[in-house]
Amino acid sequence: MVITKFRVASRSKIGVAIKIGLLAVLFTPAGMLRAEPAAPAREEDGKFFDAEGNPTYRIKADGTVDWYTYSGFRRYHGDCHSCHGPDGAGSTYAPALADSLKNMTYQQFTEVVIQGRQVARSGNTSVMPSFGTNQNVVCYMDDIYVYLRARAEGALNRGRPEKRDEKPQAAKDAEATCLGGG
Ligand code: HEC
Repeated sequence: MVITKFRVASRSKIGVAIKIGLLAVLFTPAGMLRAEPAAPAREEDGKFFDAEGNPTYRIKADGTVDWYTYSGFRRYHGDCHSCHGPDGAGSTYAPALADSLKNMTYQQFTEVVIQGRQVARSGNTSVMPSFGTNQNVVCYMDDIYVYLRARAEGALNRGRPEKRDEKPQAAKDAEATCLGGG
């Protein structure tokens, strides 16, 4: 009997908690949600995901970044920084991705990077090249995304992250498959 009562009570408490959670989501502007540093909801072999299943970063209290964030830093500075500036800070030529990602979803980001974009503005054509066939970008899309996401959400300072996790076996396997064309 006591157990039954307890179950009923705790179930209704959960119900209230869910309702409060829903209200918080409903009354929080989407832009704010994206710009807040948040703990990842799930880990899979050293790779981190948010509650919606999108890739995200994990930065420990001592500043150690997960492998993918570190890898993204390197890939970004290999293929993107010449136009978008060091650390995602932008240039006179291309926007600061550390700002862009405050308002872009993971899907929107990958679409622009794969397809590229051309926009005519006051006589000039602004060109974001397509990287859809560049393995150095496509095979590290999530890495670049989580690095820029960490910058956009204010979780990571400018410059090379000093401490990082070891490269997970899953990252080595995925890289071999992707670069091998398999
Ligand atoms: C040759 C220069 C150049 C390179 C290299 C480049 N970009 Fe761009 N990118 C641009 C320009 C210019 C724009 C702005 C296009 C426009 O006017 O909408 C842009 C726009 C973007 C946007 C959309 C931003 C927004 O606010 O809408 C994303 C995302 C992006 N680039 C990601 C990348 C990534 C990731 C890389 C590296 C893999 C990269 N870019 C490399 C020039 C470049």
